[in-house]
Amino acid sequence: MSPGDVLKFPPGFLWGTATSPTQVEGRIENEWTNFTAPDGGHCRIACDHYHRYPEDIEWMSRLGTNAYRFGLEWSRLQSAPFAPLNQKELARYVDLLDQLKARNITPMVVLHHFSNPPWINAAGGWTNSTTIPAFVDYVRQLVAALKDRVYLWNTFNEPDTYACVAYLLGGFPPQRKWKLGQFRRVIEHMARAHAQASRVIRRDGNAGRKPEVGIAKNWTFFHAYHNLSPWDRLTAYGCHYTFNKFVLDAFLGGGRRRASTFIGLNYYGRVRFHHFRAMIPASGAPVKRLKDFGFVCDDMVERYPAGLVKILAYLHRKFKLPIYITEHGAASSDETFRERDLRANLAALHGAMADGVDVRGFFYWSLLDNFEWQFGYTKKFGLLAVDFADEKLPRSLKPLAHVYTRICQDNALSQ
Ligand code: BGC
Repeated sequence: MSPGDVLKFPPGFLWGTATSPTQVEGRIENEWTNFTAPDGGHCRIACDHYHRYPEDIEWMSRLGTNAYRFGLEWSRLQSAPFAPLNQKELARYVDLLDQLKARNITPMVVLHHFSNPPWINAAGGWTNSTTIPAFVDYVRQLVAALKDRVYLWNTFNEPDTYACVAYLLGGFPPQRKWKLGQFRRVIEHMARAHAQASRVIRRDGNAGRKPEVGIAKNWTFFHAYHNLSPWDRLTAYGCHYTFNKFVLDAFLGGGRRRASTFIGLNYYGRVRFHHFRAMIPASGAPVKRLKDFGFVCDDMVERYPAGLVKILAYLHRKFKLPIYITEHGAASSDETFRERDLRANLAALHGAMADGVDVRGFFYWSLLDNFEWQFGYTKKFGLLAVDFADEKLPRSLKPLAHVYTRICQDNALSQ
């Protein structure tokens, strides 16, 4: 992008932020409630978005966003399989949706984001196929209750990450390691649940505006650091096969493609392997050391904006479905770095769209600094900082928020 260039986005493009219930709401009863991260962080209060959502919606409005992607917490809404929805908790989500509407903020609702009700976990979670009908019943009740207010439905957030970190790497509850069979079963069950839930959403969700439904796929590029290293290439290919190919095939392969009206893409970057080791800060490699290798990383993974063009072109060619960037963001205390990263990724996005990829929106991860799962509060993805040392949990705008506001307001990226 040269100085003076203005990259315009199409009218009606959604500019949003994203959160998930366990990471921001607080006072949740799911498998994360008693989980403590190495920094001592837990989700029991988190950002207290549960009570502070009116204030957070004000912030979204001040940011100039016109969309918000957030989750509904299943454990709040149902107390047993096939039980009626909890009306008090439902009313709170309805109020949140009404407050968004009053601010002209379009909601995208996520139905599963790394957490389950305790009674689902007690029965083996998504390794058990009886979770499928229980989930579909939950979705049926939700759609009946919310169809006038919601048309964008995101069934599963990153099934690949969930199944991998919970059943292969041991980072998420139930913290199992190297259970490849369970990993595959979770993916297969979620893919079936997605197909069935989508049918319900498309059949019952039609209230004024045609419902849209899709999953959010985390796409990570897996590469070898040295192309000549056969072992690292094999490791990279194994990861690509398991987390990208197998998962995409399960959800979108063959006739399953018809289950989705869009693809949600969560894009952060890539992982390169060197002597079998994943060269990313999230696996313990220090950012400074990675810099010596010539890697540009945030506090989690290597940044790879050029990859965004590649994956968008691939998904477009293969599935011919509209795409939403359901998450992109960087964790760092260096706001200049985050600005550079955002601009580079949005320029890549714009380039892909100019080449014909139908992208309808972009959601910044995240609205707030929040509970970053097994990393606790050490990774700062927010456009807004939260002062966790103050019990009032005050929010404040970070420098990147001003940059994003300008982009949202102009519907364009300029220098
Ligand atoms: C997840 C978020 C997470 C973010 C940053 C995505 O994998 O959907 O819950 O906080 O990445 O790691």
